[in-house]
Amino acid sequence: MPELEKIKIGIIGYGFRARGIVPDILANGSYQVTAIADINDEALEQAKGNSELQGVQLYKDYKKVLQIDDIEAVFVITPQFAHRDIVVDAFSAGKAVYCEKPMALTVEHCDEMIEASENASKALMIGQQMRYHAYLIKMKSMIDAGGIGRPVMLWLNEFRNPFPETMLWAFDKSKSGGLLMDKNCHHFDIFNWFTDSEPVQVFASGGSDVIHEPFGIKSNILDNAWVIIDYENGARAMLGICMFAGLAHLYESGVGTHMREMGVMCEKGMMRTEGFDLGRNIEVRYSHNRNSTLYRMETEGNIPDPYNGEGGHGILMRFAQCVRDGTAKPEASGQIGRMAVAIALAAEKSAEEKRIVKISEVLS
Ligand SMILES: NC(=O)c1ccc[n+]([C@@H]2O[C@H](COP(=O)([O-])OP(=O)(O)OC[C@H]3O[C@@H](n4cnc5c(N)ncnc54)[C@H](O)[C@@H]3O)[C@@H](O)[C@H]2O)c1
Repeated sequence: MPELEKIKIGIIGYGFRARGIVPDILANGSYQVTAIADINDEALEQAKGNSELQGVQLYKDYKKVLQIDDIEAVFVITPQFAHRDIVVDAFSAGKAVYCEKPMALTVEHCDEMIEASENASKALMIGQQMRYHAYLIKMKSMIDAGGIGRPVMLWLNEFRNPFPETMLWAFDKSKSGGLLMDKNCHHFDIFNWFTDSEPVQVFASGGSDVIHEPFGIKSNILDNAWVIIDYENGARAMLGICMFAGLAHLYESGVGTHMREMGVMCEKGMMRTEGFDLGRNIEVRYSHNRNSTLYRMETEGNIPDPYNGEGGHGILMRFAQCVRDGTAKPEASGQIGRMAVAIALAAEKSAEEKRIVKISEVLS
């Protein structure tokens, strides 16, 4: 098969996340980075010093990147408070857009971004790479196969270390949308995906109990919470998040800095991830027998490395397809990004007002 021409891309925002994802973008083989914009001189210096990015045009003003005709797509990797304006401008300039999660800070902004994408007939992919996570795709395919019945109770716990010093803006709710917005939009989306139903109401209990003045600044976001979501089809999901779990043994063993695990209780059985960081294996048990099946993902043949297993590779492959074929629709679409934002807004409101919040309250 003839090799496809690389898609010329611009990167807007060259901070912590961009510096992590750019090596994946370069390794992917579908993209050529043509230009980078960042308002911060130090970030541009970092890009200049990256030997893999030699010859890439560097700008402070993202609009300069949007003016480059042969750039087909842009990756918007700024903090979420800046997503709406840049994304809407990018579509006006006729570019396809990969926008990091969370999509935006309000449902209205999400709607404007979706409308701009539709008007431009260009793809909008939200960086919710969990939709391309090999373990989660396996779990979802077992649910869809039907043998285990409808998901009734779902849970996901993430116990981890605080946001790093590079993300000081995240400790300011007016910029990040709060902890449940920044961190857990991924997880709310997994619940939406697995239940295949509409969220109806949310109750969250959270607090700022331990992380008060990180890196010498005042934090006004939660540092721990439980969140319960009721779905239209009767399913209920529960999320636990803690940002002050030391997990020193994980650093020492090199396993990682997160502990994330999840499970789904279905009508005729259950499945759960085994181990840390959403696990390397999925354990499945059916109610009618006492045996469990362990799906060892390494031997399922589709995960050459953790980066692929995390969905990072799949989302970049899929975005390239969507840019090349205007009719292909991203799974991590503007609509799924919007619904994750809606749950996060309802959960933050619920924790603040100490009451159940209907999703309709944040959608209207
Ligand atoms: N998908 C994931 O799993 C994942 C992981 C980490 C972060 N993120 C998301 O990525 C985004 C960026 O996070 P980060 O940790 O890299 O933040 P960061 O602060 O380290 O980097 C953001 C960069 O954007 C630049 N910037 C801000 N406004 C700009 C503008 N108007 N034009 C050009 N550049 C601008 C800043 O100067 C900074 O260099 C956030 O939305 C975050 O939630 C996603």
